[in-house]
Amino acid sequence: PVLVVDYGAQYAQLIARRVREANVYSEIVPHTWSTEKILQRNPAAIILSGGPSSVYAPGAPQRDAELFEAGVPVLGICYGYQVMASALGGSVERTGAREYGATMATASQDMTGTLLEGSPEVQTVWMSHGDSVTGAPEGFTTLASSDGAPVAAFENPERKLYGVQWHPEVNHSAYGQQVLENFLFNGAQIAPSWSTGNIIEEQIELIRAQVGDGKALCGLSGGVDSAVAAALVQRAIGDRLTCVLVDHGLMRQDEVEQVEKDFVAATGVKLHVARESERFLSALKGVSDPETKRKIIGREFIRAFEAAEEQVLRAEAADGKPVGFLVQGTLYPDVVESGGGEGAANIKSHHNVGGLPEDLQFDLVEPLRGLFKDEVRAVGRELGLPENIVGRQPFPGPGLGIRIIGEVTEERLDILRRADAIAREELTRAGLDDDVWQMPVVLLADVRSVGVQGDGRTYGHPIVLRPVSSEDAMTADWSRLPSELLAKISNRITNEVEEINRVVLDVTSKPPGTIEWE
Ligand code: XMP
Repeated sequence: PVLVVDYGAQYAQLIARRVREANVYSEIVPHTWSTEKILQRNPAAIILSGGPSSVYAPGAPQRDAELFEAGVPVLGICYGYQVMASALGGSVERTGAREYGATMATASQDMTGTLLEGSPEVQTVWMSHGDSVTGAPEGFTTLASSDGAPVAAFENPERKLYGVQWHPEVNHSAYGQQVLENFLFNGAQIAPSWSTGNIIEEQIELIRAQVGDGKALCGLSGGVDSAVAAALVQRAIGDRLTCVLVDHGLMRQDEVEQVEKDFVAATGVKLHVARESERFLSALKGVSDPETKRKIIGREFIRAFEAAEEQVLRAEAADGKPVGFLVQGTLYPDVVESGGGEGAANIKSHHNVGGLPEDLQFDLVEPLRGLFKDEVRAVGRELGLPENIVGRQPFPGPGLGIRIIGEVTEERLDILRRADAIAREELTRAGLDDDVWQMPVVLLADVRSVGVQGDGRTYGHPIVLRPVSSEDAMTADWSRLPSELLAKISNRITNEVEEINRVVLDVTSKPPGTIEWE
């Protein structure tokens, strides 16, 4: 792999994604790994990421020169670049010329070397630094400079060492991907061979090796991750996988049917659906406090899932071969954020129905553990999953239960479902699915307002559109949807959903607003 050493900013994941976009496999490792440990992984190349420290501050993460003497190609980026410069005898100083944001970098000479091949003499780059490299290490060629960075990029092709002060992984760096690819393909001589096809083949082999002739269970949420994980495991072990879907009655229009029909048709997965909307509705009766709703839905979900699981496990154990594996759709960002633990996880499930051991130990199968969301979608498409599942927006576990402000009832769910389906249909028709991270539609069920329709006065509910753009849902901005689209959605909803007589737009960013209303 190409190892991205994470020096603590948020850029490491982006670097790893960009490397994979160049069809080269990459993994993130923490900067606390020793040089020996990094080299033991046999990396094809190493990239040192940016980070928030100052290289000469006491206790700042450093790197011993051995890493740069091992013959493995290294690219230093931003803080990683300064770490490299200082380990190799260059100079890093606080010049006072802090640069942040789009900056012009100028090539230092006609000969642009390996790293900047294909870049123009002057290019826009994304900078974010207080310290600067003021002198390249001996034997290195300075490739570019900017106002605040006298040595903004350097290289020593004989030693396969390269560095840039700016962030080539950020889209604002106009030739960023080119710089990364120059390093990977020309500097490190790596062949681009990582593709969706071989992710699938590799995962199928790994799943087969792990599960052997055992059986597995997978909970489907209706979302992309669990669907793709299940489809991969199904490819690997066929009918020895059983999927369980709890229909809590809080899904959007047609979502359960899409899993039951389209997903099953596309994958051949063996599916057990637990129809539990009664259970959820009666538990939610009279409740309008958001946190209480969430707790109730969470609690009932576990109960409903365990009941369904119980049934499946008992049926599967009838031939003397009980289920020993649980499939989960954990993604790479979750793995990295939780410290990247490598040990095999094991989870315990409690059972107290006759015929099954009290504490069942499952081994976890997590075929998406190494993948980013966009790769998961690509794998799903390649496996032939329906677009309405693979392209699905993020949807909260408590479902429409937290998109009805007030008590959740069957009637209100029905109103919200119809309005939400119209909004989604129009967004898709306008071709804006990729520009919008998600667009919750929220029913203000306890609010009524006066309206007029035909000759009559109406007294209906308002509905809120909450389109947001975001990278990771941690922060978000409200999406500037075209007003014709908003008009179309509003007209259709007020015409087609009798109970709604007003459509309003949420124009709050996050923070201060969250994406969901509850
Ligand atoms: P907020 O509302 O906190 O939402 O800005 C951030 C993202 O998380 C989703 N969300 C949830 N997802 N269970 C989930 O699986 C939940 O309880 C939950 N609450 C919010 C939300 O849709 C958005 O993508």
